[in-house]
Amino acid sequence: MFVMRWATVGVLGLVVGTIIGAAAPVLSDAEVAARVDALLGRMSLGEKIGQLTQVGAFDFFPGPKPAEVIRKGGAGSVLWLNDRKQFNVLQKIAVEESPSKIPLLFGLDVIHGYQTIFPVPLAMASSWDPSVAERAQAVAAREARAAGIHWTFGPMLDIARDARWGRIVEGAGEDPFLGAAMAAAQVRGFQGPYLGAPDHVVACAKHFAGYGAADGGRDYDPVYLPEGRLRNVYFPPFQAAVKAGVGTFMSAYMDLNDVPASGNRFLLHDVLRGEWGFQGFVVSDAFAVANLVIQGFARDGRDAAFRALSAGVNMDMASNTYAEHLPGLVKDGALKPADIDAAVRPILAIKVRLGLFEQPYTDESKLAQVVALPEHRKEARLAAQRSMVLLRNEGRLLPLAKSVKNVAVIGPLANSKEATEGSWMVFDHTPAAVTVVEGIRAMLPGAKVEYAPGPEIRRDIPSPFEGVAPDAKKAAQTPEQAEAALRTAVATARGADVVVMVLGESADMAGEAASRASLDLPGRQEELLKAVVATGKPVVLVLLNGRPLSIGWAAENVPAILEAWEPGSEGGNAIADILFGDVNPGGKLPVTFPRKGSHEPLYYARNLTHSPESSPRYSSRYWDGPPTPLYPFGYGLSYTTFSIANLKVAAPQVKAGSPVAVTADVTNTGSVTGDEVVQLYIHQKAGSDSRPMRELKGFERLTLKPGEKKTVTFSLGPAELSYWSTKAGKLVQDADAFDVWVGADSSATLHADFAVVR
Ligand code: NOJ
Repeated sequence: MFVMRWATVGVLGLVVGTIIGAAAPVLSDAEVAARVDALLGRMSLGEKIGQLTQVGAFDFFPGPKPAEVIRKGGAGSVLWLNDRKQFNVLQKIAVEESPSKIPLLFGLDVIHGYQTIFPVPLAMASSWDPSVAERAQAVAAREARAAGIHWTFGPMLDIARDARWGRIVEGAGEDPFLGAAMAAAQVRGFQGPYLGAPDHVVACAKHFAGYGAADGGRDYDPVYLPEGRLRNVYFPPFQAAVKAGVGTFMSAYMDLNDVPASGNRFLLHDVLRGEWGFQGFVVSDAFAVANLVIQGFARDGRDAAFRALSAGVNMDMASNTYAEHLPGLVKDGALKPADIDAAVRPILAIKVRLGLFEQPYTDESKLAQVVALPEHRKEARLAAQRSMVLLRNEGRLLPLAKSVKNVAVIGPLANSKEATEGSWMVFDHTPAAVTVVEGIRAMLPGAKVEYAPGPEIRRDIPSPFEGVAPDAKKAAQTPEQAEAALRTAVATARGADVVVMVLGESADMAGEAASRASLDLPGRQEELLKAVVATGKPVVLVLLNGRPLSIGWAAENVPAILEAWEPGSEGGNAIADILFGDVNPGGKLPVTFPRKGSHEPLYYARNLTHSPESSPRYSSRYWDGPPTPLYPFGYGLSYTTFSIANLKVAAPQVKAGSPVAVTADVTNTGSVTGDEVVQLYIHQKAGSDSRPMRELKGFERLTLKPGEKKTVTFSLGPAELSYWSTKAGKLVQDADAFDVWVGADSSATLHADFAVVR
């Protein structure tokens, strides 16, 4: 979680007349280019460099205050401001007092909701329903835009195969195919049908690229990825975002193969613009331009500015390095004026497309109407319901009967609004989620629902963002208080008919600077769980967490486990909907659950080895326990059962470049309506390079009534059957044999073969 209080910008008291009119005009590329050229023609070099500069809105930033910089035309964008009055104050300075009167672009991290909070992105990926993410980000955009925000720093598209890395919570998990679908959906949700669409914001695909592969899962650590893996695994969500028309990209912090991503011309120029034809602009991550010196790459600030701009970073986020050094670099001839113009152009183009020249201001009264819209809460509840994954349900303990009289809700997160909303709240947001305790009480108005938190949990090493989080300064429990809390919780469980335990991670345990060496339940939670299970009461475990956890004991000893992730504003209601059977869970894991944190990185799409999983030697990979996942990628249960059968590949041979259809029949074999996510995996048996033992290449989430059967059709064409070959140094489609599996998770056994021929 990254919670900050807005600190005054240094300009107060100006009342701005709000001028809000119709939607931005939809302009052709030629019209936008003509307007940008006209603007450039009247701007000084200093103002152009100003457009490349994003100023931070906090008092603690060194140097002149934003208002002074803006008045001189020294800033094109403002970061970390979330106050619509101040937006208008600063905007008025920009459009009335600065030399060329160019409006500011206000950027903020709106990652999974503005006021109405949606499940964290990892959870939304668990829905395996891109429309969930699209609708969620459309609501987030609508609220954020009403609050005066033009630009969000999302979606986060980093593939994460190591759950120790805290930022896994912000993305779609381990898989490039699912990740690409979620990427495109989020871009559509944020931006709407076109850049500048009313009630939408500009999206930012981040963090380009490879950030999720940090050595040891340690946030910010260097990344080493061979080009094949970078292109086949880490690039697809970013390329999907470009195809979906994303307006901006953010360059990542870390070294990629010894070149920092924010000074990496291969990434930002050769691939992003050259190969993918990206037309928008790139902003660095916060302070990343100045960091090029700290990272031991650039000699000094001047060298950092030169290398970031030359690599393709258009806008310097908050480090002031461009403002300080670009004028000198142009004066000395190291950079040409045309280099600056080229960097400014896409920034101005986005401002033109957004209609900011016509409507620079925010209607300060609009937010109140927009955030109160009941359909936003409805969407949040639906998104949370569709994101949850049923991991275990022995003896069909779930759904619980609504006639239950006495429920104990236990655990440190059971009544935590922060943990329910999860990681990455926007600044100045007061958590207001419905907690699990509240959700169950609302579901069972006539029952006794008792709550006991048990011992608290907290990070061993505080979050660097804790200093600015209002609730983080609470005094820690003493050992005696913790002991007493544990005893009370067990006693509460003893007195109940059924126990719902809500365990996992607090909001600051995942996210930026929130990596972990262990994936066990933190604190004394497992001890609490064991003590409650020992009472002999039926126990349901609800997990609120931002990453896979190694819950091996629970997986064998707790009859029902619901992975609820960090489900957002309506989380408690959605959990109650599922626990009491109003909703049948249908989510699937977008990431492998390991048995131990030390097994990470563990992901399904590994290459085969000379002793594959089918060989007896595989199980001795580690001599101290099985190396297999606790729960595989794609896994999730339902209150009903499904059969998937009759797998057919339309032809045994397909010509390279042509598609082939794959079909399978799915039947609901149980007694209630439910959702199945049918998944298709391939394996190329031989070829120019070794290929992963399985790769997801198709999925569909279906709702089926009891007894209902549907045929699912997938298409495998060159897009699915090609890959970037290390041997060939390019994208290839080999003429070779393929396995194909269709099933309910990545361990599917229903199998067929086909071959690609020339
Ligand atoms: C740093 C984070 O890495 C990035 O994701 C975020 O968008 C920026 N700070 C701005 O808040």
